[in-house]
Amino acid sequence: MIRVGMIGCGSMAASHVRALEPLRDRMRFAAFADIDLDRARAAAAAAGGAVAVSDYRELLDSVDALVIALPHDLHFPVGVECLKARKHVLMEKPLALTRQECDALIALDSSPDPVLMVGYIMRHDPLWTAMGDFIRRAVFGEVFHVSVWTEQYTDASRGAWLGQAKRLGGGQLFSHGCHYIDLLLHWMGEPVCGTHVGTNLGTPWMEREGTSNVSLKFASGATAYHFGTWGARGSRLRYSVHAHCTQGMLELNHAAGVITLHRDKSGGDLPALEAVAAPGESPQSSKEVVVFRRPGQAGKPVVAQMDAFLKCIEQKRAPEISASASRRSLEVIWRLYEAEESGAVADLRAIV
Ligand SMILES: NC(=O)c1ccc[n+]([C@@H]2O[C@H](COP(=O)([O-])OP(=O)(O)OC[C@H]3O[C@@H](n4cnc5c(N)ncnc54)[C@H](O)[C@@H]3O)[C@@H](O)[C@H]2O)c1
Repeated sequence: MIRVGMIGCGSMAASHVRALEPLRDRMRFAAFADIDLDRARAAAAAAGGAVAVSDYRELLDSVDALVIALPHDLHFPVGVECLKARKHVLMEKPLALTRQECDALIALDSSPDPVLMVGYIMRHDPLWTAMGDFIRRAVFGEVFHVSVWTEQYTDASRGAWLGQAKRLGGGQLFSHGCHYIDLLLHWMGEPVCGTHVGTNLGTPWMEREGTSNVSLKFASGATAYHFGTWGARGSRLRYSVHAHCTQGMLELNHAAGVITLHRDKSGGDLPALEAVAAPGESPQSSKEVVVFRRPGQAGKPVVAQMDAFLKCIEQKRAPEISASASRRSLEVIWRLYEAEESGAVADLRAIV
């Protein structure tokens, strides 16, 4: 039984704790730390009676593993202390604020003993994983363009640190867009060049961009676009992906939990829509068919992410989303930010 502690019991702590019930045979939440002791107590109550403290150093002796869910500027100092105490660490994204901080954490990383894994939760969502599989395996032909939209409303009521560039590490792109840059690298391979333009118009609580537009080109020749905003007062697409492939367009609809293949062109060389339908699905029309539907409770990303972390500890395996793997997405963002400041196109080659 792995004893897990959580440092930082903010917006998602209590719901995450309850969601992890299915893993109770392998882990138990033993302790929670938050400088706001009431928050630590609320999370401890949700776990059914764990220890609650305001100073995270007090919980180090009573846990084997830690989830660090703190404002981004604290990831580095707290992460260093936990690794030096030889605790397994699941670090919420982003790994840290700067190249120097990330490199220092990577130097301390001796996964799997102890494990250091980064929490890129979208990598554990079966819907997004299925989209990645379709693209990586060229199931519907070669992909030549992917667009990702994330439209949400996130203001500084979650914590003043959210709007402060120095504590967040940048703006919306660094904090939230990092998920989708990570996915695009995973799906489409080596990036070659790209641009970023951002604005805080409409999101005045953000020192840096609250709205972000990224264009990327990959070594395969494919392109990608990511638009993310924290200022959406309304939305139709919410979280959506369009992947244009040579056999049709795949549309991921996050809220509906489906991936649909759209195909206006017909041709004898293309498989019939019936042949590519997800189990139990049939074409809605001659032009579209559901090719994947997200499974129910079992597919909860927070459970899948913790399951992957526990497996690394139990089986002494290095995590797929290691500190150094997660740094690649941040390096892309740092280069995009630097190029934006000098009005140039970012050179994204040779990112390791
Ligand atoms: N993966 C996801 O879907 C997702 C979603 C939201 C946030 N996050 C990440 O989770 C982390 C936390 O974000 P959040 O939205 O929960 O932020 P939050 O502001 O809601 O919570 C942060 C908590 O840390 C506490 N805290 C601050 N300084 C502390 C200290 N020195 N010691 C102990 N506790 C301290 C605060 O009191 C607060 O309760 C960030 O890395 C964020 O990017 C991930």
